[in-house]
Amino acid sequence: MQNIGELAGFTIAGPHNLRPRTAQIYALRRMVVAAFHRIVDAMTSQTALDCPSVFEAELPTCAFEHLTDPFEAHRVIAEARRQAPIAMGHRLRRLVSKAFAPRGAERLRELVVEIITGLVDPLTAVGRCDVVTDIARRYPTPVICALLGAPAEDWQLFSDWTDGIKKLFEWNVVDDGPVILAAWDELDTYLEDMITPRRASLSDDLISDLIRCEEDGDRLTHDELLMLSATLLGAGTDTTRNQLAAAVQVLSAHPDQWDLLAEHPELATDAVHELIRYCPVIFGSIRKAAEDVELAGVRIPAGTIVAANTAAANRDPDVYDHPDRLDITREDPPAMLTFGGGVHYCLGSHLARLELTEALRVITQRMPNPRRTGPAPWKAISGITGPLSVPLEFDIGH
Ligand code: HEM
Repeated sequence: MQNIGELAGFTIAGPHNLRPRTAQIYALRRMVVAAFHRIVDAMTSQTALDCPSVFEAELPTCAFEHLTDPFEAHRVIAEARRQAPIAMGHRLRRLVSKAFAPRGAERLRELVVEIITGLVDPLTAVGRCDVVTDIARRYPTPVICALLGAPAEDWQLFSDWTDGIKKLFEWNVVDDGPVILAAWDELDTYLEDMITPRRASLSDDLISDLIRCEEDGDRLTHDELLMLSATLLGAGTDTTRNQLAAAVQVLSAHPDQWDLLAEHPELATDAVHELIRYCPVIFGSIRKAAEDVELAGVRIPAGTIVAANTAAANRDPDVYDHPDRLDITREDPPAMLTFGGGVHYCLGSHLARLELTEALRVITQRMPNPRRTGPAPWKAISGITGPLSVPLEFDIGH
């Protein structure tokens, strides 16, 4: 298999002899390769022994990759060894997950309402819009920027950089290489300029939280801070904007549900769950079988790459009554798998739900009686998909 670096025409070297730019690509490559090496939790549990899983066993953590002193690294490893024969290394997620817990996301609610209202307000006088270009595309970047602590006047810059960097996951990486690297360079420089003074005066944004982060004496390095900020920008932008456009498209095709939501905004949280189940913009998660696994009477040999089709699971008739029906009033709906599962479950799920909930409240109330005025073609169903355009007309004056 070619790795991203090879596809892009870059040399992937080991971490010992990296130039700064290659180091970033290498870090990214590590993330992508790691993604391919995840284990299907359900699959491994099929062969589980009578003991807690490695994720439940409350094992010590052991993080030394950020250190530059080998003696300190040996001290950290020895400390972990004293506590247990196995230690967990997934360090970055643990450090940032506090900021993404429900309370962390909640502190953004007021701002999220302000942003979506600002996008929808001008449209209510016109009575028509393209949901993709006029609302969804513009919505998540300001939220992530606010999360990171970037000032509002720079949000458009972030939007442009995100568009550049996300080409890394598209089909034309070789030609797009210079655009990707230029965008990434500019973002890095910007973040550098933002992080350095922030160290001297911490505030209540995520960057400050990350700088402050100190668990077991663990801190993020400067490079990790840069990488993580770029990752959040990437992971939290295209997902949410496509999911919002898809949700509005589907709701507009179910006017009874649209009206119900407009009259009962308290249903919005359940509506978001149902819409992400019914029209996901991510159809699966990739895993690798860590050992031979028997599933539905067949053997999946260790090492097999498996695409867990979460879209199929979301419409499993053994789990959902009438799975092909959109019903925002389902009571106690079973789990929905669009955010993945297990140790890599979407870190931004609370934030994404919050953004979609507030957006659907505002949109259904301020854009009544929606009518689609043209086709709503979707991107190919791979990676993050979603509608390219959702042209709507609606009644004005709300
Ligand atoms: C509707 C919007 C979203 C969808 C559908 C979505 C979906 C996903 C999926 C399927 C995964 C992989 C899970 C797995 O492999 O089991 C994931 C991972 C991730 N998501 Fe989201 N996501 C959304 C929004 C967000 C937002 C708003 C953020 C942050 C601002 C975010 C940050 C992340 C991160 C950091 C990971 C990697 C977690 C890890 O590997 O440990 N996502 N997301």
